[in-house]
Amino acid sequence: MSETSENGSPAGEQAGDRVYIFDTTLRDGEQSPGASMTLEEKLQVAEVLDEMGVDIIEAGFPIASNGDFEAVREISRIVKTAVICGLARASEKDIDRAGEALRDAERPRIHTFIGTSPIHRKYQLQMDADQVHEAVIRSVTRARNLCDNVEWSPMDATRTEPDYLKRVVEAAIKAGATTINIPDTVGYTTPAEFREIIRMLREEVPGGDTVIFSTHCHNDLGLAVANSLAGVEGGARQIECTINGLGERAGNAALEEIVMAIETRKDVFSYHTGIDTTLITRASKLVSAVSAFPVQYNKAIVGKNAFAHESGIHQDGFLKNAQTFEIMTPESVGLKESSLVLGKHSGRHAFREKLQEMGYQLGDNALEAAFQAMKDLADKKKQVFDEDIEAIVDQGMATASDRIKVLSLTVIAGTGGPQKATVTLDVEGRHQTAEANGDGPVDAIFRAIREIVPHDAKLPLFQVNAVTEGMDAQAEVSVRLEEGGKTVTGRGSDTDTLVAAARAYVSALNKLMNRREKTAPETMTAI
Ligand code: KIV
Ligand code: ZN
Repeated sequence: MSETSENGSPAGEQAGDRVYIFDTTLRDGEQSPGASMTLEEKLQVAEVLDEMGVDIIEAGFPIASNGDFEAVREISRIVKTAVICGLARASEKDIDRAGEALRDAERPRIHTFIGTSPIHRKYQLQMDADQVHEAVIRSVTRARNLCDNVEWSPMDATRTEPDYLKRVVEAAIKAGATTINIPDTVGYTTPAEFREIIRMLREEVPGGDTVIFSTHCHNDLGLAVANSLAGVEGGARQIECTINGLGERAGNAALEEIVMAIETRKDVFSYHTGIDTTLITRASKLVSAVSAFPVQYNKAIVGKNAFAHESGIHQDGFLKNAQTFEIMTPESVGLKESSLVLGKHSGRHAFREKLQEMGYQLGDNALEAAFQAMKDLADKKKQVFDEDIEAIVDQGMATASDRIKVLSLTVIAGTGGPQKATVTLDVEGRHQTAEANGDGPVDAIFRAIREIVPHDAKLPLFQVNAVTEGMDAQAEVSVRLEEGGKTVTGRGSDTDTLVAAARAYVSALNKLMNRREKTAPETMTAI
């Protein structure tokens, strides 16, 4: 492993100005209720993270489920640049499972953790301080026997007694941890306090100058990004974060905000990251789509309005000189003017070139299917934009291996009622039709689908977004289904919102079927 391109390197690097970006969208982000992703979706996200220059990708928690294990293993196989990390509690079983999932990674890292605060020791672990100290030594030693690159985290570090925190950090360093991550697990700390915690550990713990310190801040008080940057000022050189700030409760520190703050305020933060910021928008859109977590309109950097100027005074100033009201350019985060791309007279060659320019590489069959879908769309909608192409390609990727497909749909809707739907599905090669009445057209469609494919899943989310502006815009529908405590999301797009709804429901159903075939994960305890 190279000394400078990943953290885990010795002292000199720590004092440098390079900040390593550790993305945990696929682990901590995916852990947030309802944000679960399929293997294919995780692979897509991992590829974009690698391409944008993320230094470490936390790909999952291998012991948590077979799905997580498989995701870490497959991501380890495809990603060639970033370090791939798997999470493990302080138990032999967890650590061995993480080591196994990472076996094919070019640059593996095991990340092991245990709660260290009084409340975690007493209630979650039911262990005293000495027992936790022992577990730290045992777990880090075991991880180091499997992997040279070991990260250790004292969970709930910011509510841990400072002297005890120093004791366990020292033990982890002596046992061989190369990165010490300091989680603000409950989003409780403040910038000044967190800066001081990191400084104290770096300067006062023996061996603190031989490892990389890392921040892992949750956003319960809206301070995650500020706390992470303060941690860097205190001496941390790795920041753990997620795309769009996805994560448990109020989420994790948002990658895009951290990176753009460092980039934009070079005068204040004398650090740099290896991130290609022009891929931020692509990553944000992908994560939002696969997790079905919409991005808040006024979210910093990636919100729909982040670069919009509405008020007269702002528009006037902006037109005279963009810098009057813009501290970053939209291009710097990869936001392009919505460009008109193709129409019904465009040929395959132009389409292939457009896809390449947008960063898609499709095989011949997928390309042909996407081309036909573009032609169909151009028949319904005069102008086809970049966003339309993205929706077509995403839909194609999502449905290519589906066992159930929507063949046709007829709906009777309107004020008169009852609303009625007739749906024909292809279920593993057999065409089946059902008819149902419902409380509204969407309800009727979903009931008809349920007649063909009986299931008891609940529908906690149904969401419609317009892909572009205008009356003829495609609708993109996201649906979340919940069965036995597990959730899956599906997406569908079409110029007809009801067709998009049927596709989204069927897409979620396909994922539910696949998930049913996998073994149920064991219930997670603290250790
Ligand atoms: O928030 C937290 O404490 C975590 C640890 C597992 C690092 O996610
Ligand atoms: Zn966390």
